[in-house]
Amino acid sequence: MTLILPVDPRSPQPDVIARAAACLREGGLVAFPTETVYGLGANALDATAVGRIFTAKNRPFHDPLIVHVANAAEIARVAEYIPALAWHLAEAFWPGPLTLVLPRKPLVPDVVTAGGSTVAVRVPRHLVARALIAAAGVPVAAPSANLFSRPSPTTAAHVTSDLDGRIDIVLDGGPTDVGVESTVVDLTSTPPRVLRPGAVTFEMLRVFIPDLAAGAPAGSNPVAASPGQLDTHYAPKAPLTLYAGPSASRLARMLAEVASDVERGEPVGALVSMEEAGAFQRAGAVTATLAPEGDLDTAAARLYACLRELDATGVARIIASAIPPDDRLGAALADRLTRAASGRLITVH
Ligand code: TXA
Ligand code: MG
Repeated sequence: MTLILPVDPRSPQPDVIARAAACLREGGLVAFPTETVYGLGANALDATAVGRIFTAKNRPFHDPLIVHVANAAEIARVAEYIPALAWHLAEAFWPGPLTLVLPRKPLVPDVVTAGGSTVAVRVPRHLVARALIAAAGVPVAAPSANLFSRPSPTTAAHVTSDLDGRIDIVLDGGPTDVGVESTVVDLTSTPPRVLRPGAVTFEMLRVFIPDLAAGAPAGSNPVAASPGQLDTHYAPKAPLTLYAGPSASRLARMLAEVASDVERGEPVGALVSMEEAGAFQRAGAVTATLAPEGDLDTAAARLYACLRELDATGVARIIASAIPPDDRLGAALADRLTRAASGRLITVH
């Protein structure tokens, strides 16, 4: 039912791209790699096709989609008004992991925008994504290609493990590069606001937007402000708990928890740095190794794969050290980890 087509990420085969592009034009669903995570694409101007995305993912309709286009000029097809700042950001960060929220054009179906007056747009950097969108000749609405609330997919195998039989084609271009979803910036609010941190960081954005805001405005309903940013996003099946605090006491506490779980016969997973892996294995935990300590690029690239890997072993729960938010990639990692943990955080003193 679901066709898996291998594709060269550095030089996508035109015949493979043409086949997937035809599927999009005919109203089908195609999963494809972007530099962040795999997306599940449909023709953004075809409300029926976009509706199928929601069915395939079990995604609630109040969660709007990002519209992917082949180059910056194409955003004029879906955005009504494009401020100078949008063009500046486009020039600096596109193609790349940045999504801009702009006023929508009326031709964009309500199902894409969750009925709202804005539309989110992005020009992805991945060559397969760009070739596919260009060949389709239509803007492509694409959320991450996972079941709703599961960790986003960073390999084609992650996509098929969630969506096999529910979508038409998966373009398998290997593992994605960044590993966490694009930065979402709302340019319709004053000042502009980061709705979701990502690899285009606060530090990078402030060069263009000195008064950049982050998070939901004080006193607002966070769900309405950024509809998809529900707290249970990106969660593994096994409950995840984060531990914060000075490293020695934090590690002692986590290892003690592993020991007591093991004693009760409950398999426990630990998401750890390379340096910590040995100690957790000796304590009896099932480990998934994120990255060498402090290597946030690798940690981001591996985060979702590690969560899925631990889930697949059938552990009853997962523990991990919290990552402190910063003005760089740490903000995105802290955000995704906190959501994956549904906010469960234990601070050790
Ligand atoms: O990196 C990414 O952005 C990936 C790849 C596939 O491009 N896509 C992705 O899509 O992460 P998704 O649907 O999982 O997350 C998109 C989020 C929504 O949950 C919502 O928070 C925000 O973008 N969003 C979309 N349209 C919006 C709008 N009009 N206003 C505010 N937020 C919006
Ligand atoms: Mg998603």
